[in-house]
Amino acid sequence: MAEIIVALDGVSGREALDLVDRIGEVGSFYKIGLDLFTRAGPAVVRDLRERGKRVFLDLKLHDIPSTVAGAVNGAAELDIDLLTVHASGGPGMLTAARDASGGRVRLVAVTLLTSLSPDEVDVVWGRDIFSIRDEVARLGELARDTGMDGVWASPLETSWLRRSLGNDFLVVTPGIRHAGKDQGDQKWVATPAEAIAAGADYLVIGRPVTQATDPTASLKELAAEVARATATAP
Ligand code: C5P
Repeated sequence: MAEIIVALDGVSGREALDLVDRIGEVGSFYKIGLDLFTRAGPAVVRDLRERGKRVFLDLKLHDIPSTVAGAVNGAAELDIDLLTVHASGGPGMLTAARDASGGRVRLVAVTLLTSLSPDEVDVVWGRDIFSIRDEVARLGELARDTGMDGVWASPLETSWLRRSLGNDFLVVTPGIRHAGKDQGDQKWVATPAEAIAAGADYLVIGRPVTQATDPTASLKELAAEVARATATAP
C-alpha cells in the first residue's frame, strides 16, 4: 500500500516536534528538508527516531563523489529510511552514493526540479531543451542504472516514469492535495487516488497537513483516501 510522508517545512525544530506529537500515531513517516535540517540539524532527526517515526531526509545532495559519499554515510548513521540525491550529479556521484549507503538507506534521485521553467532548463543546460519529459526520462534511467532505489516524480511524471522504470523502482510523488482544495505553489497536483493509480509508492504531503486548522484530521482524511484508493486499485 502507498504510504504518506508528511513534509515538515517552514517550521523550527520545536514546532516540528510539537506538530509530530500533536499528530501522534496517525503520522508515522516524516520528511525533513534543507529548511528544517539547516535550522535544527541531526538532533531533530534523532528526536523523530526516538518517537519511533521514520524519516525521509530530503537533502538533495549534489557535490563531488567523495563529499556525497561522506554525507550519505552520515545520514545512514542517523538511521533514516530515505535520502535524496540529484541525478544530475552524474554517474560517479550516484555510484559513490550507492556504495556509501551499503543498503542502509534508500536513495531517491531528483531529476529536474518541478520549479524550473523550460526556459530556465535551457539556461542551466546551455542548449535548447525540446522536451522536459525526455530530460526527466534520461535522468530517471541514469538513476536506475546506477543503482538508486527510486525517483522523485511530480504527479505529471508519475505514471510514465513508473511504466518506463519498472515496478522494482520506488516512485515518490509530491504535490498531493485533497480533492477540490487550493493547490498553493505546486505546479502539478494530484489527489491521493490519482497518484496511487499513476503508480506512486510514497505520497509526500506538506501544507495540506501542516497548515491545516486540524492537522490530525486532515492527515486522517488523506490516509482514508489512500486506503480507499488502494482497496479499489486494479
Ligand atoms: O506543497 P507541499 O507543502 O505539499 O509540498 C511538499 C513537498 O513537495 C515539499 O517539501 C517539496 O519538497 C515538494 N515540492 C515540490 N514542488 C513544489 C513545491 C513543493 O516538489 N513546487
